[in-house]
Amino acid sequence: MNNAQAEPLLEIDDLVTGYGATRVVQGLSMKVRAGGVTALLGANGAGKTTLMKTLCGLLPVQGGRLRFMGEDITRQPSDRRVRDGLVLVPEGRMVFPSLSVVENLRLGGINLRARPNWRRNMARVFDVFPRLEERSQQAAVTLSGGEQQMLAIGRGLMAEPKLMLLDEPTLGLAPVMALEIFALIRRLQAEGLCLLLAEQDVQRTLDTSQYAYVVENGRVAAEGPSTEIAGDPRIRQAYLGL
Ligand SMILES: Nc1ncnc2c1ncn2[C@@H]1O[C@H](COP(=O)(O)OP(=O)(O)OP(=O)(O)O)[C@@H](O)[C@H]1O
Ligand SMILES: [Mg+2]
Repeated sequence: MNNAQAEPLLEIDDLVTGYGATRVVQGLSMKVRAGGVTALLGANGAGKTTLMKTLCGLLPVQGGRLRFMGEDITRQPSDRRVRDGLVLVPEGRMVFPSLSVVENLRLGGINLRARPNWRRNMARVFDVFPRLEERSQQAAVTLSGGEQQMLAIGRGLMAEPKLMLLDEPTLGLAPVMALEIFALIRRLQAEGLCLLLAEQDVQRTLDTSQYAYVVENGRVAAEGPSTEIAGDPRIRQAYLGL
């Protein structure tokens, strides 16, 4: 887990990205190692979502380089990245509201690698999220916020991710539902899923992850094993509001 020798799953080297002339990520470098959860922390507007969108190819790279599983993906289109196993579960869930749970899940597994295995993958999703199976024919818009988040994660699982980018999964959820989502994250991790997790619940995210990056103004301001970041009063105060 996260040992320094293992080749990183994802390597971000001096990345520059943003929205047209607005540079949001400005020379950011980080590594996501195989195994476990890597935390992506930082204040509102630090650039976490912008980074994740760029990692999965929804925003173009303006400078620097991205490598995934040893391959340069800097210019690769987003569908190819999904096929290779780099899968975003976006901030705000973004499920298709008028489609049913099953239809949303089918769309998540449409990439060429995962498509043949959709039945098996859907059975796994229903095993992890029994509530989705109970509501399988319901339109996504009729689900609760927590259930929509489960659907968004389930849709991501349908793609057979090697690395899941999970952006603010507990945003706007009731505390009890947020706890449930964290429990699910731990379960998925125990089953071998690798995650890059951006979350406002800093303490719980540090407790759930092995390694953490703190982003400020589009750059890495601090990094280290999560226990060390959690135990550093300077970092807690300066960047994490703890
Ligand atoms: N579509 C856009 N066009 C222009 N600027 C944008 C756009 N989306 C985000 N930004 C700006 O980019 C900066 C970083 O936003 P981003 O959403 O990446 O932050 P974040 O770290 O994910 O924040 P949060 O914790 O609130 O989710 C902000 O200043 C934001 O205003
Ligand atoms: Mg965000």
